[in-house]
Parts: sequence; C-alpha cells; structure tokens
Amino acid sequence: MKKILIAGNWKMNKTFVEAGELAEKMKGRLGDITQIDIVICPAFPALSAVYEKIGDTHIRLGAQDVFWEEEGAYTGEVSALMLRESGCKYVIIGHSERRIHSGETDEMVNKKVKKAIEWNLTPIMCVGEKLEERERNKTENVVRRQLEGGLEGLSSENLLKIVIAYEPVWAIGTGKTATPHQANEVHKFIRQLLTNISSEKISQQMRILYGGSVKPDNISALIEEEDIDGALVGGASLVDESFIGIVERCIK
Ligand code: 13P
Repeated sequence: MKKILIAGNWKMNKTFVEAGELAEKMKGRLGDITQIDIVICPAFPALSAVYEKIGDTHIRLGAQDVFWEEEGAYTGEVSALMLRESGCKYVIIGHSERRIHSGETDEMVNKKVKKAIEWNLTPIMCVGEKLEERERNKTENVVRRQLEGGLEGLSSENLLKIVIAYEPVWAIGTGKTATPHQANEVHKFIRQLLTNISSEKISQQMRILYGGSVKPDNISALIEEEDIDGALVGGASLVDESFIGIVERCIK
C-alpha cells in the first residue's frame, strides 16, 4: 500500500527567520504524523533553520534544486552532499519554473536525478504541459518527452527511489486546478509510461503527485483518484493553517 505524500514547495518565499517560525508551527501540529509522508522544501538559505525545528520529527526536509556535479567551479550551484548535510532527504528537480526561467532541459533534469539518487536524496521530478500545449492536444507528447528524458538510463531499482509530480503549468499559482478526473487521466498515462520503461510491478509502487493550486478544499477529491498518490503544494504550503488543513484531510 502506497503512503500518501504531501510536499510543500515554498519557492522563493520565507527568509531564514520566517522559515524557522513557519516550521515551528508545522512541527507542533504535524510533527508526530506517520500515516502519511510530509515534506517541506524551503529555499536554500533557510534549510538549516527549518531542519533545526523539524529534525527530530516525522516531517522531512527537501530542497528545490540540486546540481549534477559534486564540487568545483560552479558558481551559485549547490551539491547533493551539501543538501544531505543540511538535513535534506528529498529534492525537487525539473520544476516548470526552473525549466521556464533557468532554461532547464530534460538532459539537465536527468543528470540531477541521477546525482540525487547517488547521494540518497529522493528526487521529486516534475513534469507538466503549458496551457498552449494542452490546447493543441500536446499534453501527452510533452509529458512523455519530459518523463522519458528525465528518467533516461535509470534502472528499475532506481525508479523505485523517485517520486514523480505532475504539475500542469496552467494550474500553478493560477487558482485553476485540473479537475480530479483531468489530473488522473494524465497520472494514468504517466503510470503507463513508467510500466513501459520498467514493469507494472514497479510502476504500481511509484508515487505520482499532483501539483497546481492544491488547497484544503480540493485535496480530498484529488487523492480519491486511483493514480493520484499525494500533492506538491505551492501557495497553500506557505500558510500553516492551509498546509495543515491539506494534511489533515489526507488522514481522514
Ligand atoms: P501552487 O500550489 O501555488 O499552484 O504551486 C504549485 C507548485 O508549483 C508546486 O511545486
């Protein structure tokens, strides 16, 4: 039985001090929860502040990116070992905002996923189409390209260490959620692709999260769908009550 995973992506929000305060509130209400997996992903400078609060709870720490080299002259980049030492167990890779603003390609995503696995970080690898791609009926093409590109060369054993997040770009931060049915259609397609790459046994064990305007009042219907195994939450993860609300609805 797959455990639901709820991950909060704080994006470029919350300073060191603010992040510590928010983590403290979440620790109080969510720290002992074991029925589902909870991950929070602050910006790099706030990782240690958050880890200090949640390090001894069941909430796990995640980063929002990682570089594919281990050390050296890569100004501005952060290595997998640095993340491990900061307390991270997860890392978001290939978020659409990085693909759009930082020119991240499927090849780069693939290198990052491999490096994360090598260092025992669980990648949350993001895929998802833009509005114009959906309108041109290109959703499956785009998702297939991103998924196959990002997972290129990974063994079945390593696929089991990865979480996939389907985040339609048109639903991110817009208040427009894909309907549970719409989301599940793509999740089902992703699971079929994973079966093709590995086997049904493997794909059935992998978690596929949905992301895009997830809130306390739409999470229940989303996770009721067969192929939705949790959520990657942006805006609603920045407010303790809404993130806690999402988690509580998943436990019910
Ligand atoms: P919102 O929940 O703000 O739409 O963001 C989704 C997202 O991009 C999570 O990674």
